[in-house]
Amino acid sequence: MAEDLHIVSGDKTEKYYSLLPQIKGLLEGEPDLVANLANVAAALKEQFGWFWVGFYLVKQNELVLGPFQGPVACTRIQRGRGVCGSSWAQAKTLIVPDVEKFPGHIACSSLSRSEIVIPIIRNSEVVGVLDVDSEHLNHFDTTDAKYLEEIIALIEI
Ligand code: SME
Repeated sequence: MAEDLHIVSGDKTEKYYSLLPQIKGLLEGEPDLVANLANVAAALKEQFGWFWVGFYLVKQNELVLGPFQGPVACTRIQRGRGVCGSSWAQAKTLIVPDVEKFPGHIACSSLSRSEIVIPIIRNSEVVGVLDVDSEHLNHFDTTDAKYLEEIIALIEI
């Protein structure tokens, strides 16, 4: 596995195209979940420069903070609370163009303006979420949802 990430410029599709095989390579042959989540968060942060990117994992019926890149964040989120808890409860990807307009949004940082949360589903159950925050409004769209879902599918949980 190469430890250096190859960063590209261009539109977001080109960035995901370049990143996907590299993330595959990073995960290959490594069974440790924390190591893999940490590297995925780091790779996404390095390529896209997002404000915050990381994982919450379902533990004893709440979401608990996992590996992430960015400022310190809230450690526990209840099912149905905030964007992450809603994505868990609905088992679907949520794109939030303006976090101030999302009822119950949990503001870990006042700098976060828009957000996307992808549930990690295994055997029909949500086992965690990938959460990405941007300091720009309306930063995420269905292209992000499509490729982030593909990235999530690569992780063995
Ligand atoms: N904003 C999220 C909380 C997690 S932080 O953004 C890292 C939410 O509403 O669930």
